[in-house]
Amino acid sequence: MPAIPTKERSIVLIGLMGSGKSTVGRELSRATGLPLLDTDQVIEEQVGMDIPHIFAKQGEAHFRALETALLTYLRDTPEYRIAHVISTGGGIILRPENREILRSLGLVVWLDVDLPNLLARTARAQNRPLLRGLDRERRLRELITSRSPLYEQTAHFRINSSELKVGQVVDAILQQTTFLGA
Ligand code: S3P
Repeated sequence: MPAIPTKERSIVLIGLMGSGKSTVGRELSRATGLPLLDTDQVIEEQVGMDIPHIFAKQGEAHFRALETALLTYLRDTPEYRIAHVISTGGGIILRPENREILRSLGLVVWLDVDLPNLLARTARAQNRPLLRGLDRERRLRELITSRSPLYEQTAHFRINSSELKVGQVVDAILQQTTFLGA
């Protein structure tokens, strides 16, 4: 699918909970000067509830519908047709239409982090309903298995960022964006 020219320079971060999308997104935004848009944060502001409450009161299916509505809005609204750094919720790739929209928004980067590092980084996962009160290791293992193919097919490129510092991840992404003129 041809990219929308004015959106070619957005950088979209995808990956599992704990993969560092928010932290890397903030640093990338600083490094590039591009405005940061965090889909979880926008949804929380729209609904007026945090993610755990949205899941508890409205259910995961409703949250997924909100993600699709937001992506559709970003794609179709002229004022958002400027380059952004977009960090996303880990499950945003579950719906096929989301995967297509994400790729149309810009360069999609998969932050791929291994299980031990995900476990360490989600150790205080209070704000993550999908990891709450469960065997976190088993759950993350399941998510890696079920979602990796979806991240793979959505991303333009993957960074194995398990052992990388934030600055190294940012540098790796910036190298990939030079051809876009970002
Ligand atoms: C989710 C990841 C979360 C948030 C929600 C669901 C998921 O975002 O969107 O709790 O399905 O993996 P982060 O990946 O930023 O934690």
